Amino acid sequence: MPPSSPSRPGSGEEVRRWYGEHFAEGATPSYRAAYPCGRDGALGLDYAAAAVDAAPAQQVQAFCGVGNPLALGDVLPGTQVLDVGCGAGFDCFVASRLVGPTGRVEGIDTTPEMVGRALHHFQEAGLSQAKAREASAEKLPFPDASFDLAVSNGAINLMPDKLRAFREIHRVLRPGGRLHFADVVRTGEPSKEQGDPDAWSR
Ligand SMILES: C[S@@+](CC[C@H](N)C(=O)[O-])C[C@H]1O[C@@H](n2cnc3c(N)ncnc32)[C@H](O)[C@@H]1O
Repeated sequence: MPPSSPSRPGSGEEVRRWYGEHFAEGATPSYRAAYPCGRDGALGLDYAAAAVDAAPAQQVQAFCGVGNPLALGDVLPGTQVLDVGCGAGFDCFVASRLVGPTGRVEGIDTTPEMVGRALHHFQEAGLSQAKAREASAEKLPFPDASFDLAVSNGAINLMPDKLRAFREIHRVLRPGGRLHFADVVRTGEPSKEQGDPDAWSR
């Protein structure tokens, strides 16, 4: 999320187009965020250096989270994890190491290019318990009560219908399941430009 980008997307479709353009599979992410991303971002957010070093380099490079949702509580072996707005799948990679072979990690993202990157990197890393698919958080392609833990990193602020996304996350979590998310919030009134419908998520 580059809050200072003049071409920041607003609607769901524009978000998809924007991330697709800037995160094509195999390419170095082509935007400059207003906050540290990639390896520096992950280390600055206290991801374990061992996990950062173990992940595929291009997956780490495409990390654009704003926090470390997996550090918000224990993630035990065998846990079934959903990553909402998984991007290139760095949190899925980290979660896979925590849940181990008896666990399961599913990433969803609305941008096909991001899903392509995530799948490529899961294969590169030899992760059999991680999957990714194209889907919107507002319409999750999973039955009720499918997961123990949902995580999301820097994605909910981009969603046009946040209430629907939260309802969907609640639906797919088992009773007693948890949501760990990190995101950005605006304090104060948006500027005139930020109030433009095309730039609401800036
Ligand atoms: C700032 S990136 C963060 C990606 C990843 N979580 C990370 O930490 O690197 C935000 C991601 O949210 C995805 N996204 C935006 N709106 C979405 C929605 N409605 N449903 C699912 N994913 C969405 C974008 O495609 C993008 O990959």
